[in-house]
Amino acid sequence: MMGIVFKLVLLILMLCPLTINSSFQYLTFVQQWPRGYCTVNPANPSRCQRIPLPTVFTIHDLWPGNFTKILQNCTKTSYTQLQNFQDWNNRNLRWPDLAKPLPTMQNFQEPRFQSFWKHEWKKHGTCSENMYPEATYFSRTIQLSQRHNILNYLATGNIYPGSNPTVSSVNSTIYRAISNHVPDLMCVTPPRQTPALVEIGICFTATMTTIIDCPSQFLLTGSCGIGTINFPA
Ligand SMILES: *[C@@H]1O[C@H](CO)[C@@H](O)[C@H](O)[C@H]1NC(C)=O
Ligand SMILES: *[C@@H]1O[C@H](CO)[C@@H](O)[C@H](O)[C@H]1NC(C)=O
Ligand SMILES: *[C@@H]1O[C@H](CO)[C@@H](O)[C@H](O)[C@H]1NC(C)=O
Repeated sequence: MMGIVFKLVLLILMLCPLTINSSFQYLTFVQQWPRGYCTVNPANPSRCQRIPLPTVFTIHDLWPGNFTKILQNCTKTSYTQLQNFQDWNNRNLRWPDLAKPLPTMQNFQEPRFQSFWKHEWKKHGTCSENMYPEATYFSRTIQLSQRHNILNYLATGNIYPGSNPTVSSVNSTIYRAISNHVPDLMCVTPPRQTPALVEIGICFTATMTTIIDCPSQFLLTGSCGIGTINFPA
């Protein structure tokens, strides 16, 4: 009897980390608008040192979620620094740390030039580690950004940088561009100004094969208000 109980306890203990790891049910793929992210926050004007700023949406993160609970910092698996400048550069192309200046071939290995990726890996990537180990997490996220060009999507609704579209037109344009699925929008509102578009999220099944509606309980779209927003050029 004791033996069986002991084995059961052992089995539960063994399965526990597995359960925690596999509790993600969907993914939110978040891309950011550099002008929105960098220029709208007067509280922190020196937020971005990247010059010139990219003029396309860049990756913020891929966020594994659970329909009932926000997941973060799921395991202790550490981040592996990229050692090769070409690898660094390839990742930087779509997933740049806008807060940092561009490093050189001589100093790109300084930890600060990978701290953004390290942060995203630890905070979000570890929550889907059972399906996407680190290298896969980064490569699959970059593939998603190649497939989902937000500027092109917005252009289908005649929405361009330097304009003041309504939240609902941005929402419905992206909705149609991703075959009728609800996106997540995020805005930041500087004091006494119009909300500025900062991020657009697209949600996927855990396998990344199918787009789904972003779960309404976690939508940040309310941060954009209900009227016009600023899509800064
Ligand atoms: C959501 O995550 C929690 C915490 O990890 C887990 O207990 C729960 O089973 C997950 N929900 C589902 C439906 O898997
Ligand atoms: C996860 O870690 C980050 C960075 O240390 C921290 O800002 C965040 O609050 C943590 N989240 C949770 C849910 O513990
Ligand atoms: C976004 O579009 C969806 C689909 O039409 C709609 O259900 C939702 O209410 C819209 N949200 C906003 C803020 O316009």
